[in-house]
Amino acid sequence: MSLVVVNEIKKIREIIREYKKQGKSIALVPTMGCLHNGHKSLMEKAHSIADITVASVFVNPIQFCPGEDYDKYPRTLEADKIVAQEAGVDIIFAPSVNEMYPNLQKFSDLTMVAPPYELTDIMCGKSRVGHFDGVETVVTKLFNIVQPDFACFGMKDIQQLFLIKKMVRDLNFPIEIIPCPLVREESGLALSSRNKYLSDEQKKSALSLSKALFSIRDLYKAGVKETKKLFDTGLTNLDKNVELEYLEFVGYNTFKPVENITETTICALAARVGGVRLIDNIVLEV
Ligand code: PAJ
Repeated sequence: MSLVVVNEIKKIREIIREYKKQGKSIALVPTMGCLHNGHKSLMEKAHSIADITVASVFVNPIQFCPGEDYDKYPRTLEADKIVAQEAGVDIIFAPSVNEMYPNLQKFSDLTMVAPPYELTDIMCGKSRVGHFDGVETVVTKLFNIVQPDFACFGMKDIQQLFLIKKMVRDLNFPIEIIPCPLVREESGLALSSRNKYLSDEQKKSALSLSKALFSIRDLYKAGVKETKKLFDTGLTNLDKNVELEYLEFVGYNTFKPVENITETTICALAARVGGVRLIDNIVLEV
């Protein structure tokens, strides 16, 4: 089947209604576009589990904080179509801002879906105040519009994945969330649309983020369970041009801080390299 691009909510609802009538299952992959192999892996997964794969491409203004890169976020729909088609996507849903948020004068006028404060006052939520409210709100809208049976999310955005899984449970969405592994460059750098902002020099510094995480994993595998020690090792591996925002250890199933690793633990970090904010994480299995 060839790829269709749909911009209107009314139109995609019609298409989905027709597929549902035929008893077809639907998988959704929400994205902000500028697609790379990380996104592609989610789309391939979606394609392998459902009859119809929908990928949304929408740079969601309400999840960007003031001063963030909303205006300059790369918008590359033509290239995205090629990636999506290769991955087996049937429909790209690429609405305009006005289609998703008609006549919105200010974001505070909007009904929002908000995760619990204690899960957003840590890690990415701490510096990006309101970010996850914007994410949950747009994902809720996408779920209501596309009505998928499955939705694929990457472990790259590990806090987002945790919060979406919780939202689906708490609000009874009849959707199975499929976590997908983090995809890296051969160098170890986690693939991200924001890597496009990095100069070659900055990319070298950014490589130290995954190096730091891998050094933590090696030490953990060698038997060190105290996160304080693991933290220190991570720090020593960071390039001097990396401005660390956080490096935290939280339980995979709880997102609560971990001091001694006795449960599967996520070690996650965020850092700026030349002003570009990057995130990465590894899972330390027990
Ligand atoms: P975006 O950053 O475009 O990411 C879309 C999906 O791709 C997310 O589930 C993210 O975790 C996944 N992804 C990105 N890089 C990845 C990598 N290297 N390996 C594996 N998966 C990767 O996340 C968002 O958009 C938005 O917040 C969104 C959910 C679309 C809501 O606007």
